[in-house]
Amino acid sequence: MPVRHLFLALSASLGLALADGPGPLSPARDTLPAELSLEAVPLGLGPRPLDSGKPLTAVGVKLGRKLFFDPILSADNTVACASCHRPERGFASGVSQPRGIHGRVSRRKAPTILNRAYGTSFFWDGRESKLETQALRPIEDPTEMGAKVADVVERLRAHKEYRPLFEAVFADGVSAANLGRALAAFERVLLRGDSPIDHFRRKGDHGALSPEQRHGLWLYESKGRCWRCHSGANFTDEQFHNTGVSWGKTPLDLGRFEVTRQDSDRGKFKTPTLRGVVLTAPYMHDGSVATLEDVIDFYNRGGGANPNRDPVLIPLGLSAEERRDLVAFLKAL
Ligand code: HEC
Ligand code: HEC
Repeated sequence: MPVRHLFLALSASLGLALADGPGPLSPARDTLPAELSLEAVPLGLGPRPLDSGKPLTAVGVKLGRKLFFDPILSADNTVACASCHRPERGFASGVSQPRGIHGRVSRRKAPTILNRAYGTSFFWDGRESKLETQALRPIEDPTEMGAKVADVVERLRAHKEYRPLFEAVFADGVSAANLGRALAAFERVLLRGDSPIDHFRRKGDHGALSPEQRHGLWLYESKGRCWRCHSGANFTDEQFHNTGVSWGKTPLDLGRFEVTRQDSDRGKFKTPTLRGVVLTAPYMHDGSVATLEDVIDFYNRGGGANPNRDPVLIPLGLSAEERRDLVAFLKAL
């Protein structure tokens, strides 16, 4: 068998779909403000959670920021975290399945990483419990950065700029754990709050929301049932629910079930934050819902029918005006 066919046969037998596409998404530029606040938390969010008991340091955050935008973490220096988590897209990627190394296609949509400092589990199926350990996964994912963490650590150790930067932050210099810590430190300062909804709620500024948005908020908390899952300051309960988004598609994505192997978790995915949602289209774990209008239509139908659908989801019977106002409200987040 020719080598290439052998490779294809092997990858088919492993159940991997590693077709090489027209090239990865190119890394986004760092368009964030020069100084990111380590202390001030935007209006409307809870107190900043500590990184395993340690406060953030300016040098640590700066190092993580540099690494996040640098393709040096990928096997062939083409893909950065910022290829798929783009500032101008609310740190999502703007496509339903981003292309990583060699143009290989991710299985799911890249979610926003805004306000993940408040997260209690990571990935759509919650398979990681800490930002620090999550950050090393994309480096080794064959559809994302396709490298070995050990090789990347060697590369950074030999790097004349990175080595001293790590040594200035960590007593033990470059290591896999410190690479995860630096990336997570940067992610922990990516906070989004201080939105019209926060001025309305926290400052009693009635005019911060338009009459349509106020009506949308009321629907969100009543007939629309959104608050049952998208609750709290970050508009997520951090729990897993079956909304039936991609039910019936092949290959079927079983979501949380892949982690717990509990039948009741089939087709459940993590409730995403709705902060910054106007920027993060397309929506849902598979990016199958194109616009916020389509999101509301989806919920108005009661979600996607399937045997495990969350009982909270029922057809809502929203009028055209109510649907419009809910969309207007989502834009105030
Ligand atoms: C090729 C695209 C791609 C690259 C490159 C990439 N990611 Fe992701 N990221 C994704 C996808 C897709 C998911 C969702 C995967 C899943 O849930 O199974 C994700 C999920 C995440 C999450 C979980 C967010 C949540 O709400 O649970 C974090 C945090 C994250 N990525 C950070 C990073 C960091 C840090 C890097 C660089 C080291 C990186 N990503 C590189 C595509 C990418
Ligand atoms: C039963 C819990 C539940 C209810 C009720 C609910 N959601 Fe969701 N929502 C989820 C989950 C879980 C996801 C992720 C589903 C997936 O990707 O498979 C989601 C995804 C979304 C997304 C996509 C965000 C993104 O970044 O892709 C939006 C927008 C959204 N919901 C808005 C709403 C609105 C508006 C309402 C009320 C009309 C609502 N949700 C009601 C649980 C819920």
